[in-house]
Amino acid sequence: MLITVAGFKGGVGKTTSAVHLACYFASIGKTLLVDGDPNRSATGWSKRGHLPFKVVDLMQAALYSPSYEHIVIDTAARPDRDDLEALADGCNLLVLPTTPDALAIDALMQTVDQLQTLGSDRYRILLTMVHPKPVKMAAQARVALSEVPMFKRDIRRLICYEKASLEGVPVYEVKDRMAKPAWQDYLAVGKEILS
Ligand SMILES: Nc1ncnc2c1ncn2[C@@H]1O[C@H](COP(=O)(O)OP(=O)(O)O)[C@@H](O)[C@H]1O
Ligand SMILES: [Mg+2]
Repeated sequence: MLITVAGFKGGVGKTTSAVHLACYFASIGKTLLVDGDPNRSATGWSKRGHLPFKVVDLMQAALYSPSYEHIVIDTAARPDRDDLEALADGCNLLVLPTTPDALAIDALMQTVDQLQTLGSDRYRILLTMVHPKPVKMAAQARVALSEVPMFKRDIRRLICYEKASLEGVPVYEVKDRMAKPAWQDYLAVGKEILS
């Protein structure tokens, strides 16, 4: 499996999703995370602690990728049209995380429009940072996105993700009562990818 996590907006959970989807794939096969963002957030995450997979730079990807079963690529925000075309063509599935607010969804729709113009159908929207209460916003987002392929499972907004990033570990290793439930969200999304 080659999964790319992308999107127009910053701060919508791309890196967090790339890291946790890589955790999911690492539980079933040899997994590599390719850090394609010049900000190196995924690399920083792995260096602060330990992650259950190797993280390499985009420039190292060609050398490393042949020895891995699953590859997850984290990318920078604001891909231009050519970037997006290359991203969409270069993976089995493009995961597009978005928060459920109107601004993020507007930005996302630009990306989706471009993907549709390119004729790509290998992408799916992931709603992230969804407030457990009220659920209304996520429901409205689903209505706004009804024509677009989406994951059934939402990723809830939980403080343990920030702790995980700070500690450099997967969320399930954080000491927080919501750490296990948080992991269940990404586990369910990982299973949707393979189903
Ligand atoms: N589900 C979530 N709940 C709460 N905070 C989150 C969640 N996902 C990400 N975050 C936090 O939001 C910020 C941006 O997330 P990040 O994954 O770096 O986004 P991006 O890669 O799109 O810029 C980080 O501080 C991260 O810890
Ligand atoms: Mg990022």
